Amino acid sequence: MSTSVQFHDQHGDATGPAFREDVIAGLASSPKALSPKHFYDERGSQLFEAICAQPEYYLTRTEEAILRAAADEIAAQVGPDALVVELGSGASRKVRLLLEAIHPSRYLGMDISRDFLLASTRRLAADYPWLEVHAAWGDFSRRLALPSGLAAQRVVAFFPGSSIGNFTPREAEAFLTRLRQALPKGSGVLVGVDLVKSSDILEAAYNDAAGVTEAFNLNLLSRMRRELEAEVDISAFRHRAIFNAPASRVEMHLVSQQSQAIRLGGQRFAFAPGETLHTENSCKYSVPGFQALAARAGYRSRAVWCDDAALFSVHYLSSD
Ligand code: AVI
Repeated sequence: MSTSVQFHDQHGDATGPAFREDVIAGLASSPKALSPKHFYDERGSQLFEAICAQPEYYLTRTEEAILRAAADEIAAQVGPDALVVELGSGASRKVRLLLEAIHPSRYLGMDISRDFLLASTRRLAADYPWLEVHAAWGDFSRRLALPSGLAAQRVVAFFPGSSIGNFTPREAEAFLTRLRQALPKGSGVLVGVDLVKSSDILEAAYNDAAGVTEAFNLNLLSRMRRELEAEVDISAFRHRAIFNAPASRVEMHLVSQQSQAIRLGGQRFAFAPGETLHTENSCKYSVPGFQALAARAGYRSRAVWCDDAALFSVHYLSSD
């Protein structure tokens, strides 16, 4: 019985310089774009938790209701004594809905936000003293390896929240393929996938009235200022989230309100009025569309659970 967390540093010094390099490359590209993984510094992770509680952001509460209702069926798919690996574990809240039913022997949380990861896995270890808890700090979108010692066990990768939607479909397929190759045979993947629906519901979810998503998007500019000493007039950018129906994705942008420049590392990145920095794609799927993507990545679809309004889906995939 232990309330301690075994910590694995898979971060090295990769992400610090990578943030600077990614920002410079993203500002230099045309159109300007940046990976959404850079939202998640300490402040960004807190803002994301606040987004999840907004009334317009139906994703979190809908997925939680699905997990709660399907916990026993999910446990039957997973089987006993698995290692649960949560990708982008954040506050590790959703996995709590499954732990009693699945009763895994070990849990590994993987996240890019170190302090957030440590705090949440420590709370998990305290609340589930029968569970061996591990935390791996790193960027799993770059490096997908189980820490040594955990590698041999049958694994269930838990990827909730429709974070898979923050990849393009092509990236999602490549990521799921790499995940399959990184996990032992007989492993499964439990993945939350947001479903395509009316643009009104989708756009409201990414334009909450309290302005939390706006603050989350703008925090990227604050982060550039704080960590990279970028010169940027944050008040001259506005948040925009729109549903791009042909691409089946919500896009978030930071829209320049005037002719201006961001200065970083001796370089000057000019913005025309109305020009945007594209900060996130959040792809929306149909159930068969996602199952087809998973099949291309080498998985069999074992089960899928949806809410009655067909807002959200949770898929159990296996690679055998
Ligand atoms: C983490 N990810 C699934 C969220 C999403 O819905 O794409 C991030 C987010 N962006 C704006 N609101 C929430």
